[in-house]
Amino acid sequence: MKYQDIFQALKGVGDIDLSALALPVAETDFALYPINCNPDCVDEIVVSMLTEARNRNRDSFLTYFEATPERTFHWITSSVAKDNTRILFALREVGTRELYGYMGLAYGDAGGGRIEGDAIVRFSDISRPGLMRAAFLSLVEWVMIDIGIKEVWVRVRSSNPAVKFYNQCGFSVEFEAPLYEINGSLGELVELSETPLQNYAVTSDDSLFYMKYHR
Ligand SMILES: CC(C)(COP(=O)(O)OP(=O)(O)OC[C@H]1O[C@@H](n2cnc3c(N)ncnc32)[C@H](O)[C@@H]1OP(=O)(O)O)[C@@H](O)C(=O)NCCC(=O)NCCS
Repeated sequence: MKYQDIFQALKGVGDIDLSALALPVAETDFALYPINCNPDCVDEIVVSMLTEARNRNRDSFLTYFEATPERTFHWITSSVAKDNTRILFALREVGTRELYGYMGLAYGDAGGGRIEGDAIVRFSDISRPGLMRAAFLSLVEWVMIDIGIKEVWVRVRSSNPAVKFYNQCGFSVEFEAPLYEINGSLGELVELSETPLQNYAVTSDDSLFYMKYHR
């Protein structure tokens, strides 16, 4: 079975439904539960988490927008559902089902040789040191060992303290790309892009680190 079919099945939008499966996070009471992208099965509490956490961490990502529950629901049930190289997981305590954070995989290539960790965010205000790292490592090991994808990368803004988090997870910077500011019609910053879409695009102080996982 191709990894794309497995992702769709886990998201509840494939030919078979594997959305009830979860990945345990070793030596913890937590597990990674695939976020269901079927419009009839989307969990409102997960939508609230994704919306709130996206707005709280606006400077961590490359696009700037105000997330709303409606926009998040639409993103899950259209973009994420249709993209068979992308999957999101909610990190929950197994006993209580309480949400701790979320993390995903995206931008996989057609042949299953390479994929990226994507949208790795702690939602809970109460930190359990090392839990996000343990969960992300479980996800990375699952996609490499069980699914068979050989390379896992992350792209992260150079100013993001998460660079240290990724270092501690076993990722190292392989190369660095400049970022350009893309403005909206009112001059507001809407995106940092690797491609200068406007002739007069301003180079950002931030660059983009491409970090690769080394086992
Ligand atoms: C990145 C993030 C998920 C880490 O969550 P966390 O709860 O701190 O993760 P952990 O407790 O598992 O941290 C593991 C290690 O990473 C390091 N680390 C994590 N966040 C850090 C930060 N802000 N600054 C410095 N180091 C950090 C810690 O040193 C920790 O190592 P230690 O155990 O030796 O202390 C969290 O800070 C977050 O949600 N950030 C905002 C969203 C974001 O930027 N995501 C990445 C987008 S590319």
